[in-house]
Amino acid sequence: MTIPDFVSKKSKGEKISMITCYDSTFAKLIDQTTIDAILVGDSANMVMHGEKTTLSISVDMMAAHIKAVSKSLTKKLLIGDMPFMSYRKSLDSNMAAVEMLMKAGSHALKLEGAEGNIQLIKHVIQSGVPVMGHLGLTPQSVFTLGGFKVQGREAKAQDKILQDALALQEAGCFSIVLECVPSSLAKKIAEELHVPVIGIGAGQAVDGQVLVLQDMLGLNQNFKPSFLRHYLNGAELVQNALNHFHKDVIEGNFPAEKESYS
Ligand code: KIV
Repeated sequence: MTIPDFVSKKSKGEKISMITCYDSTFAKLIDQTTIDAILVGDSANMVMHGEKTTLSISVDMMAAHIKAVSKSLTKKLLIGDMPFMSYRKSLDSNMAAVEMLMKAGSHALKLEGAEGNIQLIKHVIQSGVPVMGHLGLTPQSVFTLGGFKVQGREAKAQDKILQDALALQEAGCFSIVLECVPSSLAKKIAEELHVPVIGIGAGQAVDGQVLVLQDMLGLNQNFKPSFLRHYLNGAELVQNALNHFHKDVIEGNFPAEKESYS
């Protein structure tokens, strides 16, 4: 999947599936599926490093996750997140982060918000790097937003998100992620934009959907927002396997003869 393939899906009326991934084991599995694109999200900070927000993940850490995923992919489009503050400093520093994440193996980069980012987005795109926008619930602004909450409930906020989406498209973004907004707003934005709008908690009427891998696999038992569907009871399956291993060990049933060297 290339960026032009990804973008053309919208005009062909084909929905896009995107999933997060942070490590080589899962990347190899996803590579052999029908999923369209992989996002190495800064949600890695919460999912893989146990933090409460995405804020403390560094460019170095993101590059390490991107490298691990990239090495294990043969055909999927890989989009990497620019972490908190990595695109809000000097042009030199911002571009050093872009260079590092692209050299780690990203095919495109995602960054949050429109205001204050438009000039940089244009510069990054002019440098040959495709950019994906991210609006609605932008987790890097969690403290300004007052928590991980649905955005765009009031008319003024809805208009701001729509104007931001148009500005990101105008700046050259090839796609936009819309996180946790009312379905009616997501529908309107997807209809107004010619680039694909990928939703998470944004309802049906968008051009594609993204979920956090560990969440949709049901590995995170304490996280079940209403937009999330568990496609696997992952936590129970993993715990059952571990309990089975423990039982086999204490009962002397593992290893068997064929699992031992002669
Ligand atoms: O970091 C992430 O996983 C994301 C998705 C939730 C879109 O940005």
